[in-house]
Amino acid sequence: MRIGVFDSGIGGLTVFAALDRAVPEHDLIYLGDTARVPYGTRSPRTVRRYALRVASYLHAQGADALVIACNTATAHALPTLRQAASLLNIPVRGVIEPGVQAALTAHRQGAIGIFATEGTIAGGTYQDALRRERPDLQIFPVACPLLVPLAEEGWTHGAVPRQVVEHYVGHLRETLDTAILGCTHYPLLRDTIAEVLPDVTLVDSAQATAEAIRRDLGPLVAGRGSRTYIVTDHVARFQTVGERFLGHRPEPVIAVDLPPAVSPFLELKGDSADEEMCS
Ligand code: DGL
Repeated sequence: MRIGVFDSGIGGLTVFAALDRAVPEHDLIYLGDTARVPYGTRSPRTVRRYALRVASYLHAQGADALVIACNTATAHALPTLRQAASLLNIPVRGVIEPGVQAALTAHRQGAIGIFATEGTIAGGTYQDALRRERPDLQIFPVACPLLVPLAEEGWTHGAVPRQVVEHYVGHLRETLDTAILGCTHYPLLRDTIAEVLPDVTLVDSAQATAEAIRRDLGPLVAGRGSRTYIVTDHVARFQTVGERFLGHRPEPVIAVDLPPAVSPFLELKGDSADEEMCS
C-alpha cells in the first residue's frame, strides 16, 4: 500500500517513526504542512479546510490510505475526510481512536488525563470517545500549548520544561492514574512528564496508532517500502528539527505549494461549524 501520512508540520514524525517500524513493507509518504503550522490554535473550520487540501494532494500522489498524524486535525477533520475519502474507497485513520483504546486498556481506576493542544481539548473528541465507551470515567482535559515550542526547541529535559509541565498538570499528581499524550510533540517530553507525574501511566497516541494500522493491514510481509517527505515550507528547518522527532534526518525532502483541493475533497457546503472555536 501507499500510505499518506500528514500533520500540521514536524510533530507527526513521531507517528511516522512508529509507522516506519510497524509497517516497514508499505510505502509511506509524509506531508508536513509547515506553511500553515500550527493547527492547534486555529478554528475547526480552518483546520478542516487545510486537511481537505492536504488529503486531496496526497490522493493525487497515489495514496490509497490516509493517516491523520495530527491530533488537532483528527479532532476537527476526521469525519469530513472519512466521508470524502470513502467515495474513493480510501480508508482514513486518525490518532484519537487508538489513543483512547490504549488508555481504556491502561487505566486502573478510571481517572484519565488528556494532554493536548487548545484546539484538540476544545473540540472534545477525546473526551467524547472516552465517555462513549465508559460514561463513568473521570476525565481531566488539559491544554498544554507551551509544550509544542519546547519540543521543537529541543528543550525537553531540565528545570524549565519541568516547571512548565508542573504548571500545567502538577495539580493532577494525586488524581490521575493514566494520561493520554494527545499531541504529536508530547512524546518528546515523556521523561519530564513522567518526573512530574511519577505514578501515572502515560499513553502515547503515536505508538497506539501505528499498532492499530498494523492490525488493519494484517500480518507483516517481507520487504521494505519507500519513504518520501514533503513539506509546504522551509525544508532545512524540517530536517534539523525533524531529526529529533524521527530519530534520523528526514531526507530527501521535497517542498511543494499545495494546489486547491479537488473533488471529493472540496470544502463541504454549510461547513460553518466553528461554534466549538477555542478561545
Ligand atoms: N500536530 C499538532 C497536534 O498533534 C500539534 C502542533 C500544532 O498545533 O499544529 O495536535
